[in-house]
Amino acid sequence: MKVGLKIWRYDSKTGDRALREYEIDAPEEATLLDCLDIVKDRHDGTLAYRKSCRMMICGSCGMRMDGGAVLACKTRMYEMAEAGHVPVISAMGNLPIVRDLVVDMEPFWGKIRAVDPFLQPRYDQATETENVVSRERMEVIHKESLCIMCGCCVSECNSMESDPDFLGPAALAKGMRFVGDARDGATIERLERYSEEHGIWDCTRCYFCQERCPKGVDPRDAIAKLGAEAMKNGIDRDMGARHAKWFVTSAKTTGWLRETELVPKTQGMIASIREVKFALGLARHGKVPPPFPPHVAAEVNESRALYDRVKEQDRPGALGIVQGEKALMHLAHQAEGSEGAYGKGGDYPTPYLPEKEEESA
Ligand code: SF4
Ligand code: SF4
Ligand code: FES
Repeated sequence: MKVGLKIWRYDSKTGDRALREYEIDAPEEATLLDCLDIVKDRHDGTLAYRKSCRMMICGSCGMRMDGGAVLACKTRMYEMAEAGHVPVISAMGNLPIVRDLVVDMEPFWGKIRAVDPFLQPRYDQATETENVVSRERMEVIHKESLCIMCGCCVSECNSMESDPDFLGPAALAKGMRFVGDARDGATIERLERYSEEHGIWDCTRCYFCQERCPKGVDPRDAIAKLGAEAMKNGIDRDMGARHAKWFVTSAKTTGWLRETELVPKTQGMIASIREVKFALGLARHGKVPPPFPPHVAAEVNESRALYDRVKEQDRPGALGIVQGEKALMHLAHQAEGSEGAYGKGGDYPTPYLPEKEEESA
């Protein structure tokens, strides 16, 4: 098949930047990485990109295709080539570009190091038998354990774009992998640290990390679990934590978000006084409902019953976070016969499989 690619070339030494177009012949089962190999091998040996395993394990080949991060070795080109689409390939976002599609991963590793990505055992001495962890406990960190450190989530993170010091989705998912591990003894210290500025509560919940992670780690879910664990352990000083708590109280008591009280409950009385002028402006335009009597929703019993139902389930902390289970279907290895995330109704175009064509012939 003929594959067209537009590739952003960049030289960090000279600052030269150019969009180059290539057209290559590639086998129908080729991935984006295969196509880049063909470009480098037969058309332009100066093209720089990273790769190693070619099978979605090493995390080396993260890059952007048409503005969204992908793993090049996971991305089939057949449907795109058939449709005559010429994708734009560029380096990942939020990381400095070294050359062409190669980024400097040091800022990424710095964040990973900052969360202490290793088990700090809660026991002093090794026991004679294994420390068996229940399946239920392991399920809490199952997805976080799948991370291959490719950086695709970091590439798309909105918060990191505005605050480069934000710990970011990959590091926080790694943090949750240890906070949720029943064998780890540093849970409180970790939660305290991750709850500081640039931590858990600085995530804007844009969910791009979740959308772009090629391994179904769902980093935003991991951050939600960290938030829930922090609250369970009374670590709720941050404004983000207080904001979340007020949402729950609001919904339980009135069925609405009590916005008039949101600012003092979140920022505290003293900080709220500074907002009085702004609040008065809003009030003049009818945007601030009076706090008394509170506006109670007609169907408030539904929201109270929902609150009670959640309490009855008694799943505090991370156990209470409802998982985006669909994420598990993003994994490339699926049960035989299942269409999973591909095909009709799925998130991804059906990959090209030569045997399917033979069957239908
Ligand atoms: S959900 Fe949060 S961590 Fe994920 S990309 Fe958005 S801002 Fe970043
Ligand atoms: S969470 Fe997903 S996207 Fe982010 S580094 Fe890990 S595998 Fe890559
Ligand atoms: S080359 Fe290893 S993940 Fe793509």
